[in-house]
Amino acid sequence: MESPRSGLTVLKTNQNHSQSNPTTAATNRGSYWITTFGCQMNKADSERMAGILEKMGYQEAQAELKADLVLYNTCTIRDNAEQKVYSYLGRQAQRKQLSPHLKLIVAGCVAQQEGEALLRRVPEIDLVMGPQHANRLETLLNQVDNGQQVLATEELHIIEDLTTARRDSKTCAWVNVIYGCNERCTYCVVPSVRGKEQSRTPEAIRLEIENLSKNGFKEITLLGQNIDAYGRDLKAITSQASKQFNFRDLLYYIHDTKGIERIRFATSHPRYFTNELIDACAELPKVCEHFHIPFQSGDNEILRMMSRGYTIEKYKQIIDRIKQLIPDSSISADVIVAFPGETDKQFKNTLSIIEDIEFDQVNTAAYSPRPNTPAAKWSNQISEAIKVERLKELNKLVERVAKKKNARYKDKIEEVLIEGINPKNENQFMGRTRTNRLTFFSTDTIGNKNYKPGDLINIKIKEIRAFSLTGEAYE
Ligand code: SAH
Ligand code: SF4
Ligand code: F3S
Repeated sequence: MESPRSGLTVLKTNQNHSQSNPTTAATNRGSYWITTFGCQMNKADSERMAGILEKMGYQEAQAELKADLVLYNTCTIRDNAEQKVYSYLGRQAQRKQLSPHLKLIVAGCVAQQEGEALLRRVPEIDLVMGPQHANRLETLLNQVDNGQQVLATEELHIIEDLTTARRDSKTCAWVNVIYGCNERCTYCVVPSVRGKEQSRTPEAIRLEIENLSKNGFKEITLLGQNIDAYGRDLKAITSQASKQFNFRDLLYYIHDTKGIERIRFATSHPRYFTNELIDACAELPKVCEHFHIPFQSGDNEILRMMSRGYTIEKYKQIIDRIKQLIPDSSISADVIVAFPGETDKQFKNTLSIIEDIEFDQVNTAAYSPRPNTPAAKWSNQISEAIKVERLKELNKLVERVAKKKNARYKDKIEEVLIEGINPKNENQFMGRTRTNRLTFFSTDTIGNKNYKPGDLINIKIKEIRAFSLTGEAYE
C-alpha cells in the first residue's frame, strides 16, 4: 500500500486551507461505487476520490445497484457522453425513492457544465461537484451528511491532494502535472469545464513519483490536457530565473527516479510541441517511444476554423523530426470529422494525412456541438447522415493503416511490461510494449519463471491484429 503523501506542498500560496479535507477516523460508512466516463484526467480524479472515500471508511461495493454511495464522474466532450450520464442517473434516482439513504453524487465535467440545472433535473442528487473540487470530496460529503444538497462548481485553485489515491493498477500510474486548458479550440468544452491552467510544482510531482516507485509502480503517465503548456503559470520557481521551467525541464527533473522504468505523457498540442522536447525524448531512455499528438483535421482551412493555431505542414514537420530522431516510435492522434462547413475535399485531406503518416492509432469522432462553444452556433452544421458516412469511412481507413503498421512487429522481440491477466482469457498475461501496443502472451510460455504484474519481459511477437498483438516469452 502507498504511504500517505503528507509531505506535498500546497500548489498555490493564496490557497484557503479550509478547503482541504478534514481528518476523520475511519468508521464503516457503507459501500461506494464509482463509474468513470471520459478521459484519463477523469480516471485520475476518480482514483483520488476513491482514496478519499476509503480513508473516510467506505468500502468498494460488489455491485452498483447495491452501493450506499454512487458517484458518477462524468464527461461532456460530446453529446452522447453527456446523455449516457442521464440514463445512468435515471436508474439511481428511481432506486433512491426506495432506498432514501443512498447518496448520489455527480462529479466531473457534466457537473461543472450543468451545475444547478442538474439538481433541478434530477432532484435526488445529493452533491454536484466540478473537477476542480475532486480533492474536497470529504468536506462536501460532510455537508451532505448534515442534510444539505450541495453544489460545488465555483472556480478554485486546486490544492494538493493529501490523500493516497486508490489506484486501479499496481504497475502503471497517472500523475497530473497540469490541470485545465487555456486554449480556445472552437469545438471544445474542456476549457469551460476544467478551468484555467494550473501547473503543479516540480517538487510535488517528483515526490508523488518517488512515492509511486516506493510502492512498486514501474510506469507513469504524466497528464495534462495540453501538457506542453506545463510551467507557463509557474513563476520563477527555479534557480534558472531567466528561463521558465517547462515540460522538457520537468522530464529531466523526474527522469532519474529510481524504480520507475517507463515514462509516458499525454496530451501534446502540435502548436507547442517543440524541437527541444523531441530531442529530450530521444535522449532520455525512460521516455517511451510513443507520441499522442492530436491533429484534429488534415485541412488548413478547417484547422483555422477550429482555432488550432498550426498548419498541417507544421504538424508533418513535428512527425518527421520524431521519425528521424526516434525511428521506431509509434504515433497516435485524435481527429474530428464533419466539423461545421467541412467539404468532401477537406474530409479527403484528413484521410490522406492518415495514409501519409501511417498512424499506429487514431481516436476518431464526428463533430458534436457543445454548449458555450463558438462552432456550435454556426449555421453551416453538417447533416447526421454525412457525419455517420464520413466516420465510417475514416474508421475503416484507420483500422487498415493500423494493421499495416503493426505488421512491423511480426517476429520482433519487444519489451513488455506485464500489467495483469487478460480479462478475456485467464491463461494470458496482458501488457504493453514501449510503443504502447497492447500485447498478450500465454502464462504457460514462461517456463518455470514466476512472472507477475510489474515485471518487464521480452516477448517475441507472433500474431498481429489492428489494435493488439500476441506473442511468446523469449528468454
Ligand atoms: N486536449 C486534447 C484533447 C482533449 S479532448 C487536445 O487538444 O488534443 C479529446 C478529443 O475529443 C479531442 O482531441 C477531439 O478530437 C475530441 N473532441 C473534442 N471536442 C469535440 C467535439 N465537440 N466533437 C467531437 N469531438 C470532440
Ligand atoms: Fe480542448 Fe483545444 Fe484545450 Fe484540447 S487544447 S482541451 S481540444 S480547447
Ligand atoms: Fe470528458 Fe472532461 Fe475529459 S469533458 S474528455 S472528462 S476533460
